[in-house]
Amino acid sequence: MTVSDDDLLGLADAAAARAYAPYSRFHVGCAVLARDGRVIEGVNVENASYPLGVCAERAAFSRAVAEGYRPGDFVVAAITASPCGGCRQWLAEMAVERVVFRNGGRVVTMTVDELLPEQFESTSLPE
Ligand code: THU
Repeated sequence: MTVSDDDLLGLADAAAARAYAPYSRFHVGCAVLARDGRVIEGVNVENASYPLGVCAERAAFSRAVAEGYRPGDFVVAAITASPCGGCRQWLAEMAVERVVFRNGGRVVTMTVDELLPEQFESTSLPE
């Protein structure tokens, strides 16, 4: 079965209902389509010590990596909100082909290069 970007965003919307966000009350869902056709979902999980909360994207990719997926195994990430700066770095690390997200009533599709130009690469660090 093929999963369209619209389907994937619908799965992200459904996942967002399971977010644990009692502090911000901002529920975020992320659904990632892997090359093998599987969809891995994540939600934001907040903490009373605010900075310890995790974003939906990082929750989804952490789950995927724990299940054996690796950077390059992902086709699309659908997110119910525009990804934060840190999550853009995660999307780059995971080498996802495209990112679909809601932003102010619009649905936006971008590549990681568009979301995060001039990327940091550890190989470009001085010896
Ligand atoms: N959040 C995400 O889950 N992903 C993003 O890319 C943006 C922000 C979450 C973090 C926090 O739980 C809530 O949204 C409010 O910032």
